[in-house]
Amino acid sequence: MLAALMAASGPIGTAEAQERPPRPDSVRPTRPRPPEPPQPPTVQPPAPQPTNTGTTDTIGDTTQPPATRLEAPQLPDVLLNYTDATLPAYYRRGRLADADNTPEDNPITNTGATLGRVLFYDVKLSANDTVSCASCHQQANGFSDPATLSTGFDGGQTARHSMSLANARFYERGHFFWDERAETLEDQVLMPVQDSVEMGMTLIELETKLQATDYYGPLFEAAFGSDTVTSDRIAKALAQFVRAMTSTNTRYDSAFTGGGNPPDFEAVFTPQEIQGLVLFGQGGDRAGRTLGCAACHGTPGHIADDIHNNGLDITVTGDDGAGDKRFKAPSLRNIAVTAPYMHDGRFETLEEVIEFYNSGVQPSPNLDQRLRRPGGQPRRLNMTQAEKDALLAFLNTLTDESLLVDERFSDPFIAH
Ligand code: HEC
Ligand code: HEC
Repeated sequence: MLAALMAASGPIGTAEAQERPPRPDSVRPTRPRPPEPPQPPTVQPPAPQPTNTGTTDTIGDTTQPPATRLEAPQLPDVLLNYTDATLPAYYRRGRLADADNTPEDNPITNTGATLGRVLFYDVKLSANDTVSCASCHQQANGFSDPATLSTGFDGGQTARHSMSLANARFYERGHFFWDERAETLEDQVLMPVQDSVEMGMTLIELETKLQATDYYGPLFEAAFGSDTVTSDRIAKALAQFVRAMTSTNTRYDSAFTGGGNPPDFEAVFTPQEIQGLVLFGQGGDRAGRTLGCAACHGTPGHIADDIHNNGLDITVTGDDGAGDKRFKAPSLRNIAVTAPYMHDGRFETLEEVIEFYNSGVQPSPNLDQRLRRPGGQPRRLNMTQAEKDALLAFLNTLTDESLLVDERFSDPFIAH
C-alpha cells in the first residue's frame, strides 16, 4: 500500500522533475481551465499585508487579489518533488532526525503533498470562501503573517500571532501550536478549519463542499487511490505539505556543502557572522562569549527543543500558554522575514528581541533556568552594540530566499 503510494509519487529530484516532458500520470485535474486572466506582474506570492487595521472589509482581498485568482488550480504537468530526496544528509542524522515528527502512516508523497498544496491555498476551506491557510501563513513571510494577529473569515481576530511553518516537521515533542494543544500535525491542520474565528466550517461541511468541487476528484485519486474526500485524507495531505516545508537553502546551510561534517563556517560567513554564530551558541570550539540561544533554538534546523517560559513580561497579556507561561517557539529559519515576534507578536523587530534577551527578561517563578543567573535572578547579558549587531547578522544568515519563492509551495490558484 505504502509502496504503491510512493511509486505513484513521481520522479525523484526536483530539477529533473521540472525539466522532463509531461507524463501521462500527471495529477493535473482534467477539468478544462477557465480562461486565463491577464498575467500579473509577478507570479510570486502577493505583497505583505498592510498593518492590520482591525477592520473587517479587507478579508481575502489583501492576500488573494480576486483579479488574478483562478477557479481551479493550475498545476505543473509533472509532479514537483516534495519527498525526502530533497533533504540534505545533516537533516537526516542526530537531533534533527530524532525530532522528525512524521508518523509511519503518513510519509510525504508527491501526490499527497500536491493535494496538500491545493488545499492550503484554497479559500473553499473557509465557510464563506474568503480565507485559506495561506491568508495567515504567507510564503513571502516565511509562512507567517505580518499582521500581529490574523483576521479570520468573518473579520474576527486570532488570539495569537500566526506561527511560521518552515521546519515544523522537526519538533521532538511532536505537538503543535504555541501552547502545544494539538497532539500531532495531522490533528492540528483540521483545527483552523473548524475554528469559529479562522475558517468556520464543520468537517462534514468541508467534506461535502470539496467532494462537489470538480478538481479535487483526480487529486484525491492520485494521492489516496480513490476520489472519496474524507477529513482524514484532507488532514494527511495538508500535514504532508506542511512537513515538506523544510529550510535547507540558507547561508548557514552553505557551510555544509560536501556533506558538512563538520560544517565550514569560515568559508561562507563574515567575521561578524562568525561572532554571531559563537554568541548564539553554535560556534563549536571557537573562542568567544556564548549567550546560549542554541540551548533552546538548536540543531542545524534551529528548532525548539521543548516549551519554555522565556521571561516575557506576563502583564502584557494574560496568556498562560501551555501552563506557567511556557510556549513553543517555531524554528528560527526565516526569522528575519517573520516579524512580529513571540506568541503575541509583541516585538516588531529582531533588534527588540535581542534587547529583550539582553536586558528585558522578567523574573517569574517558572522562568527557565537557562535564562537565570546562579542566584536565580533573570540573566542580564550586558551586550555591547557590536555583539548585538553580530547576533543580528547571524540571525540574518537563516533567511531561506529559495523557500520564500519555491514553486512547490506557491499559490496554484494564481496564473503562472
Ligand atoms: C485566520 C488565520 C489562520 C488560518 C486561516 C490558518 N492559520 Fe495556522 N495558525 C494561525 C495562528 C494564529 C497560529 C498560532 C495559534 C496558537 O498557537 O494558538 C497558527 C498555527 C499553525 C500551526 C502550528 C505550527 C507549530 O509549529 O506548532 C500550523 C502547522 C498551522 N497553523 C497550519 C495551518 C493550516 C494547514 C491551515 C489551513 C487548514 C491554517 N494554519 C490556517 C493562524 C491561521
Ligand atoms: C530557555 C530557552 C530559550 C533561550 C535560552 C532563548 N530562547 Fe528564544 N525563545 C524561546 C521561547 C520559548 C520562545 C517563544 C516565546 C513566546 O512566544 O512566548 C522564543 C522566541 C524567540 C524568538 C521569536 C520567534 C518567533 O517566531 O516569534 C526569537 C527571534 C528568539 N527567541 C531568539 C533567541 C535568541 C537570539 C536567544 C539568545 C540570546 C534566545 N532566543 C534564547 C526560548 C528560548
